[in-house]
Amino acid sequence: MSDRLHTLSGYLYEYQKSVSQPEEFWARIADSFFWRKRWNKTLEWNFEKPDVKWFAGGKLNITENIFERQLFTHADQAAIIWEPNDPNEETRTLTYRELYEEVNRFSNALKSKGIQKGDRVIIYMPMVPEAAVAMLACARIGAIHSVVFAGFSASALADRIIDCKAKAVLTSDGNFRGAKKIPVKAVVDEALEKASVESVIVYQRTNQEVTMKEGRDFWWHEVVANESTENKAEEMDSEDMLFILYTSGSTGKPKGVVHTTGGYMVYTKYSFENVFQYSPGDVYWCTADIGWITGHSYIVYGPLLAGATTLMFEGVPTFPDAGRFWQVVEKHQVNQFYTAPTAIRALQAYGTEPIEGNDLSSLKVLGSVGEPINEEAWHWYHTHVGKGKCPIVDTWWQTETGGIMVSPLAGITPTKPAYATLPLPGIQLTIVDADGKELTGNGVEGNLCIKFPWPSMIRTTYGDHERCKQTYFSTYKGMYFTGDGVKRDHDGYYRILGRVDDVINVSGHRMGTAEVENAINEHPLVIESAVVGYPHEVKGQGIYAYVICDMKNRTEENLVAEIKDTVSKIIGPIAKPDKIQIVPGLPKTRSGKIMRRILRKVAEGVTENMGDTSTLLDPEVVEKIIEGRK
Ligand code: PRX
Repeated sequence: MSDRLHTLSGYLYEYQKSVSQPEEFWARIADSFFWRKRWNKTLEWNFEKPDVKWFAGGKLNITENIFERQLFTHADQAAIIWEPNDPNEETRTLTYRELYEEVNRFSNALKSKGIQKGDRVIIYMPMVPEAAVAMLACARIGAIHSVVFAGFSASALADRIIDCKAKAVLTSDGNFRGAKKIPVKAVVDEALEKASVESVIVYQRTNQEVTMKEGRDFWWHEVVANESTENKAEEMDSEDMLFILYTSGSTGKPKGVVHTTGGYMVYTKYSFENVFQYSPGDVYWCTADIGWITGHSYIVYGPLLAGATTLMFEGVPTFPDAGRFWQVVEKHQVNQFYTAPTAIRALQAYGTEPIEGNDLSSLKVLGSVGEPINEEAWHWYHTHVGKGKCPIVDTWWQTETGGIMVSPLAGITPTKPAYATLPLPGIQLTIVDADGKELTGNGVEGNLCIKFPWPSMIRTTYGDHERCKQTYFSTYKGMYFTGDGVKRDHDGYYRILGRVDDVINVSGHRMGTAEVENAINEHPLVIESAVVGYPHEVKGQGIYAYVICDMKNRTEENLVAEIKDTVSKIIGPIAKPDKIQIVPGLPKTRSGKIMRRILRKVAEGVTENMGDTSTLLDPEVVEKIIEGRK
């Protein structure tokens, strides 16, 4: 039986079945994959611990499901189409057979460097096909990859290398991004002054000069040169770790979200096919970076498991001009286009001229991910990019959920601007109030939770299971708490309202306010800081930092620049505050807690009706903060 949903009634029927008989439902989907040994038990779960096992006892390798399972039918079909940063450089296409051979060669190379099943490998690479090869080679030999977005700083990279005790780093000499040439290997070198690994493999991309440490650093092209294009995939247990991906939370350092093999495989393929309604021969393009979960699930694993042609783009939307996305759509006749609201808003600012002159008639489906899409951007996307004929799939999900949880199925679920609409089969949502009471019926608003396991869910946070339990499974008993606020309207449609915790979403990138504060506080003249999000026209949310400083003989301008620099060094340019206000004090309660509610209001531009400030230690500080607002 095909797992493809074609009609709204078909979706509703399958959804019912997935709730009434979840195990039968997922076993049926999983049966279409290649298992070396079928599982014994479809699902074992306990949200208290939490302990979740899907397809327990099943043996497989996810790459055999991409390659061996499909080579008979797909060998000569394009697996990856790569579009470089510079339109004058040539496009590369790797067929399924070519990709398979590259993955095998690199798998053998990794093994020759002593990487074994269970070892952790950091991938810190630009958007080149070799980044996908690196991920798949790790999966093939059973090593656990952890991709770190190549925009993160040396210090952030070092933290991740240390946290997962990585044995190797896979990287490149440099990275082309727009008009810039970014040193990548140099960042790795700096990180490795603090952290250490046995080997570093460097892919040559920009040909810029790099330092290679004898015995530790190797060139990619040299290590694969004599390797065989055959490699027997390692046999993995369904619950063996596939990858770790670090993400920010409301407290402490980023945590390593762990995904395992069998469930992730089943869910990413199933959700990819159904949400995007991919048909054989289509060209699908997701503009995310492989450093984020979207890149993992919907550039690499989901599409490749589905035998799709996935386009990988190295560049940025505005280089060499703001028509770049649309030129790529025309050039490769893209059928499904999946991007973030922040990119849409950034392009919206250039008007429709950059779109005109490009033939976008190949487009069938448009997607949105990463943050709430505002109605204006939704309409612009629908009208000018989709010419009013492409359904928009507004996909809500998270690093922790592994795959899309709430989304229209393209062309099947009636859409509504700014609504992620309905849950995918198998996803049992619930809305709870602050006390954890479930709000049933329609026309309600509260915190979004999921009350039943799904195959691609987070299993643990690497090296700290308690943190996983506290963060996601303790706020509301017996449920996974998403951290997002949500509204269910009178039609039963879901609209995501944004985070309800101290996490902000800047251009679709998740940032913990505490993490940014910690970075700011590293500046020697900073005494204390408080960071909040505020509405930003393009980024969705911007970062607003209130900082108490010892000015010494610095000007405010100098100090602000230095603080931005510090954050850039400690986390990366994406975490740089948009606004920094030097303040004489912070609004604290007598118990010393910062009243962020007030800071958020000021950042939003509210200057009156601050609510009850009577519990503040020094209510006057609020006036001073309002006066100095940026
Ligand atoms: O707040 C939600 C927002 O992004 C958060 C997850 O971030 P991350 O783990 O980095 O994954 C992003 C890509 C899946 C969520 O908690 N978010 C993601 N998609 C949407 C969204 N908010 C509203 N609508 C969406 N479609």
